[in-house]
Amino acid sequence: MSTTFQLDTSTSRANPTPAPMKRLTVPLVRQRKAEGVTAQPLVMLTAYTARQAQLLDEHCDLLLVGDSLGQVIYGLPSSVPVTLDMMIAHGAAVVRGSYHAVVIVDMPFGSYEASPEQAFASAARVLKETGCAAIKLEGGAAMAETVAFLTQRGIPVMGHVGLTPQAVNVLGGYGARGRSKAEAAKILGDAKALADAGAFAIVIEGVIEPVAIAITHEVPCPTIGIGASAQCDGQVLVTEDMLGMFERVPRFVKIYENLAETIAGAAAHYAAEVRARQFPGPEQTYQPK
Ligand code: KIV
Repeated sequence: MSTTFQLDTSTSRANPTPAPMKRLTVPLVRQRKAEGVTAQPLVMLTAYTARQAQLLDEHCDLLLVGDSLGQVIYGLPSSVPVTLDMMIAHGAAVVRGSYHAVVIVDMPFGSYEASPEQAFASAARVLKETGCAAIKLEGGAAMAETVAFLTQRGIPVMGHVGLTPQAVNVLGGYGARGRSKAEAAKILGDAKALADAGAFAIVIEGVIEPVAIAITHEVPCPTIGIGASAQCDGQVLVTEDMLGMFERVPRFVKIYENLAETIAGAAAHYAAEVRARQFPGPEQTYQPK
């Protein structure tokens, strides 16, 4: 599959023309796991901007507009301060920049926990104002009623169990979960409750590997691991983490490229040329005709 993003001067850089293609759907993602087996693992990355979505789209089955944008884009200390308006603005940009992947938008802290009705009102805004296909919310059995309420009313839901960053103030940090028998059983129960409630997929974050494998065997819907196990039905990473944009990343991140070094190098080169009056050169300046 190829996507060409031609520059159309009648529009702008922000409005590329993609080759016609069919977008994946939530049911197709759900069906990837058949009778407990996912022959082709699901690929998910986070995306927050249109251009990032354009670059990632053809390689991913799912693009997640994660509330990790709080830290990654806005420099916030956690995802707790992220608002629904922030998620909607970035969600709409990612939908505009993608043509193939299923776009999922995270529900931010405080926008869904109070009641199924609150969750429906918030999620309906997200779907209407971004054009995304589904939402993701954190929490296990406590959220099962809400997941059922949303899915029965036309809103596909991806669950998220284990290390749930919005609960950092309760968890006390971002350490791996499921180390005690009781906690492992609780996380497994959470995942089962979400699957029973109709979640089409479940993110398993930061849990010890045997727990991730047990969940993957026991729930019928696909599991998407992050700091979990290669045996999950798919994987997700925060794109900026795997591109090497940050000095410190969780141990479960594999760095595929060192973009921070490339960007700093380009900025240093530019600064030196400006200071030496080497930029702009003849190719970058307009002369009278
Ligand atoms: O917010 C986010 O980016 C996430 C992923 C890390 C799963 O929830």
